[in-house]
Formats: sequence, structure tokens, C-alpha cells
Amino acid sequence: MLSSRLLTIASMINSGSIVADIGTDHALLPIYLVQNSISPKVYAVDNKKGPLERAKQAVSLADLEQSVIPMLSPGLKDISHDVNVVVIAGMGVETATEILLSAKSCWHQFDQIVLQLNGDQYQLRQFLMSNQFEILDEQTALDQYISFILSVVHVSHPVSYSQQQLMFGPILLQRKDELLMKFIGEQLAKKEQLLQVVPCDSHRFHQLKEEIQLYQNALTGC
Ligand SMILES: C[S@@+](CC[C@H](N)C(=O)[O-])C[C@H]1O[C@@H](n2cnc3c(N)ncnc32)[C@H](O)[C@@H]1O
Repeated sequence: MLSSRLLTIASMINSGSIVADIGTDHALLPIYLVQNSISPKVYAVDNKKGPLERAKQAVSLADLEQSVIPMLSPGLKDISHDVNVVVIAGMGVETATEILLSAKSCWHQFDQIVLQLNGDQYQLRQFLMSNQFEILDEQTALDQYISFILSVVHVSHPVSYSQQQLMFGPILLQRKDELLMKFIGEQLAKKEQLLQVVPCDSHRFHQLKEEIQLYQNALTGC
């Protein structure tokens, strides 16, 4: 059974797409996409031999060698011309943005890039905005921790998001996503607790007050 995170990623992929799953590891997602007729063909890409071996074994066990193609490759370097959707999931924001930056010439090839990255989501959305990626969809998923999943596309016009949208996600905010609202509430409570013990003449105190205001505004829709 796939995690809620991987199931949500799968649910966001346009049906019929040729997908490249970058950093595939166990190839669970490529196998699921083919088995559930979401994709006719998936490249399961990893830059390390151990994970790629795991992927090969899983593909062979599922008897999907014709439609799931394991590839030992760094990021998007050897991406095939028939790929129109890329997934980068389960790795850090910095690694993923490096992967994207090293393949600028093929951004136009992709109808959709699905990202589920660990770390600073503000930094991720800011990267997307500065590089003219439009956010098409955003979802949350809950396993042990909350995951944020974005579906983006590179566009030829400038893209602009407010500070609040960069922090919490434009589509998640608009939809008042239930998991996001719960997450904001929890973070807000932690910050309010911290405010009680931080000296009120410190820089951190003023920083926290500003952050609390931003979190309150996001909760109340201001
Ligand atoms: C934690 S696993 C994530 C597996 C799967 N994508 C998921 O979300 O469950 C991260 C994988 O990314 C691979 N990886 C890291 N940097 C990579 C790169 N530049 N190119 C391809 N794979 C990479 C690692 O070898 C590892 O197998």
C-alpha cells in the first residue's frame, strides 16, 4: 500500500502522460502509475546504484519491464524526448532546484512538474516564482508528517505571488485546505508559546510577533 503522500502525487498526474520519476529509489510510484493506467510508460531515474537496483527488482517482480524503465542518471540530464511530466519527490528543496536548474533547456518540454520536497516551502515557491513556474495545483497529504505537493509548469510570462502565498501556497490558501489550516494553527500555537519566554526587548521577540501576525492572517483569510 502506497503512502498517502505517494497516492496524492499519483492523483495529481495528468492521465496518459509519459512520466520521469527523478530520484525514484524503490520505483513504487512508477509501478503504481502503470498498474493503475495513469501512465503508459514511466522512466524510473536514480543517480545511485543501490536505489536503482531496488527499482529494477521491484519492476521485475511486478513484471513491468516493458513500461517502467529504470535509468541510472543524475537528475534530468539524460531525459528522453517523449517525457512530458516530471516528478521530483522525497528529496530536499536544494537538491531538487539544482536538478531543475541544470536542465533549463528542457523546461518547455514538460506539461507538468510535480514536486514534493522536504524543507523550506517558502524557498521552493520563491524559486518557482523567480524562474517563471506557475503553480497549477497544490495538495497536502498526511502520513507521519504533513507533505506539500505542487504541480507546476514553466510559462513565458512573469509569475507573481504575495508573501503570504509564498509562505503557505496560493491554491491551498484559496481553498482553505483543511490540513494546511491545521498545520498553521499548530505552528501558531508553538510561536505563541515561544513568545512567552523570549525577552521582549530582543530581535527574536519582534520577529516572532510579525510571524504570529502572518499566521493569524492566513487563518482568518486576511
Ligand atoms: C528519499 S528517496 C525518495 C524516493 C521517492 N521519490 C519517494 O518520494 O518516496 C530520494 C532518492 O533520490 C535520489 N537522488 C538524489 N539526488 C538525485 C539526483 N540528482 N538525480 C537522481 N536521483 C537522485 C536518491 O538516490 C534517493 O534514491
